[in-house]
Amino acid sequence: FPWSSVAMTDPALHLLRPEYLDQGGLKVTNPADGREVTTIRRYNRAELVEIVERADAARHEWGARTAKERSDVLRAWYDLMCEHAEALAMLMTLESGKPLDEARGEVKYGAAFIEWFSEEARRAYGEVIPTHASGKRIITLRQPVGTCAAITPWNFPLAMITRKAGPALAAGCSIVVKPAELTPLSALALENLAHQAGVPHDLFRVAPAVRSSEAGDVFCTHPLVRKISFTGSTQVGKLIMAQAAGQVKRLSLELGGNAPFIIFDDADIDRAVEGAMASRFRNAGQTCVCANRFLVQAGVHDAFVERLTARVEALRVGDGINNPSGMGPLISDKDAGRVADLVKQAEIQGASKAGTAPDVPEQGAFHPPVVLTGVTTDMAIAHEEIFGPVAPVIRFTHESEAMQIANDTPFGLAAYVYTADFARQWRFMEGLEYGMVGVNDGLISTEVAPFGGVKESGFGREGSSHGLSEYMNIKYCLIGGL
Ligand code: SIN
Repeated sequence: FPWSSVAMTDPALHLLRPEYLDQGGLKVTNPADGREVTTIRRYNRAELVEIVERADAARHEWGARTAKERSDVLRAWYDLMCEHAEALAMLMTLESGKPLDEARGEVKYGAAFIEWFSEEARRAYGEVIPTHASGKRIITLRQPVGTCAAITPWNFPLAMITRKAGPALAAGCSIVVKPAELTPLSALALENLAHQAGVPHDLFRVAPAVRSSEAGDVFCTHPLVRKISFTGSTQVGKLIMAQAAGQVKRLSLELGGNAPFIIFDDADIDRAVEGAMASRFRNAGQTCVCANRFLVQAGVHDAFVERLTARVEALRVGDGINNPSGMGPLISDKDAGRVADLVKQAEIQGASKAGTAPDVPEQGAFHPPVVLTGVTTDMAIAHEEIFGPVAPVIRFTHESEAMQIANDTPFGLAAYVYTADFARQWRFMEGLEYGMVGVNDGLISTEVAPFGGVKESGFGREGSSHGLSEYMNIKYCLIGGL
């Protein structure tokens, strides 16, 4: 094995089956140092088609099992994920650069979806609807949509799979996943554990494919694929939507965001700083729901900037294994350059750095965490998704101004508001045009709540009981002649 890290442990190695590896295949590198971790097998178009067709053949037997039988298998998968949590986290850190503690957190988060949907599998109730006519009765059945496909991103290599595969399998569907090319290792390890737990081999497959567009093409055009779930950019989401329209496939799209993080004069500033650190700098800012722009009311602007800057200057930046609780690199050099360009452009337009972390490694895809003040709404950094560790601060005066700036975007994934005023909390929960709103809290993600956006951030919900409904059709049956 050409593993680059001496810290790579045996348990992590054992999670990758030899047939996954191929010296001539897809190269996986650690963004912290650019070194090759290993190479894995790529599936070509014909192989992907075969995987889809086998998945479709496998779903009938699975769908015919009782909900309890499916639930037990998912529970066994969850248990195996917990048992191998450290190895999964290690693989994730090597492929994504994510600090080990965050990778451990993601394994827990990812496993929680499997646990949750193992439980929800048994609650896929239909209905008996009070009839409109005597002699007739009305019921609804909830049935699996069929064979599903998922395309998942590199920023959460494991949890974005489990929150699609968990409900799909719980509902009685089969699912084929195309993981991000940059982060296929933890995904393949996850597949291995699923099969060990008793998920039938062909029912759930992870297939790193030649190119995303090719996988997208197979998924969008193969008539056996009845649903596609995609997490990624709005741009690619629109392409999938257009291509899937040809066969009117069901879709769930979790796309880009531009989250406002609004702080009013009456907010608890320490709490807001805590939330800002968790929301903005988690995963080096590479999260769809993370705060993309801070709207701070004039009365607390300077205090907030001062306290946030102190926290940012204390961040330790380094590779994810030796610096397990600090901040890691971005996913690639190209992304670090893109973020640096956004900051430079904002500075040319009048923004300035209030502070940044010292001692950022010179090699690797690192970008220092930065607090940027004097940001105005016309700057690219205020309306583009940054996907990096930069906190742009915009000063505002009136509540109406904050609401207007917050909603002035085509995106609508997550928004955050900090205020002690109960009536204002309600005005913002109702008035913000977003799928999710955090009030006095910067961390909203959990398996028990419906995650998803509105506007160009997509549609469909993941997690909660709504997440299961995404993989089920409702069939209405009328029984007459009674
Ligand atoms: C994402 O960035 O797409 C998901 C983040 C989360 O689940 O918290």
